[in-house]
Amino acid sequence: MARVLVTRLLPAGGTDPLTAAGHDVVQRTEDVPYGHEELVSLASGVDGIVCLLTDRIDEEVLAAGASAGLRVVANVAVGYDNIDVAAAHRLGVAVCNTPGVLDETTADLAFLLVLAASRLASDAEHDLRHDAWPGWGVTQYLGRDVHGATLGLVGYGRIGRAVARRAAGFGMQVLHHTRRPTEMPGYVAELERLLAEADVVSLHVPLTPATRHLIGARELTLMGPDAVLVNTARGPVVDEEALAEALHAGTIFAAGLDVFEREPDVHPRLLCAPRTVLLPHIGSASRATRTQMARVASQGACDVLAGRSPANLVTP
Ligand code: GLV
Repeated sequence: MARVLVTRLLPAGGTDPLTAAGHDVVQRTEDVPYGHEELVSLASGVDGIVCLLTDRIDEEVLAAGASAGLRVVANVAVGYDNIDVAAAHRLGVAVCNTPGVLDETTADLAFLLVLAASRLASDAEHDLRHDAWPGWGVTQYLGRDVHGATLGLVGYGRIGRAVARRAAGFGMQVLHHTRRPTEMPGYVAELERLLAEADVVSLHVPLTPATRHLIGARELTLMGPDAVLVNTARGPVVDEEALAEALHAGTIFAAGLDVFEREPDVHPRLLCAPRTVLLPHIGSASRATRTQMARVASQGACDVLAGRSPANLVTP
């Protein structure tokens, strides 16, 4: 029997694989992230950690854990930019994540943002709720049609492809860009060309040093004043300052954002930007999917603790 720290509340049933395997689950009862010092100290008392993307599992946490027998860190997320995977590898701590189970749910939300941002749903709802709608007018809230528009996907992994399937149903043309050629229809080798050709750009890349601020002032200018930007990937992929500037200046049409550079803080100029739909990082937030993510992460931890190779091992 091993001791496994679960750093925040998980959906009911999320830790079932751990309890079924007989592990001692140390479950945080408050749904707030631990501070960094707390994580360092807790890591040295457990064999495994099931954590969330709000936990910074850096070299210090990993070293404290590894020196006392920590063997696995399982992230309840597909993205793992919160974990120093290279340090974990060096220290012999396995890292797992939850790919596959959240693709469709996240793609649903990305498409929600495509629709809501293109049709100015947040501005319109805001006026309605704040008694600022004078009654129907033929020139009000004139958005951009989604049907017939060109969607440019930056990143074409499982989630990007799930968004492409939805876009086809809405009569959109779909282009995609990845660093390595996909040899699939719609592939565009140059990001600049995709940005210039797409009416709606949706981001589906992981956060890495290469994708940090992938979309900045220059890229927004290439997209042009009729374009819509959707980000359900990671906040720092977009330079928020540049995006806020473009929205206020009207050099981009609209934006739909589920992720932010410094969560839970949101850039103040984005909060008051026109034609902008903002959501609090809920891409995978359906009960079924979040439960499944928790189970997959718990199972990954169980596998490592049992000496098996986990299905979703992350390597540097
Ligand atoms: C959510 O953002 C995830 O990476 O799963």
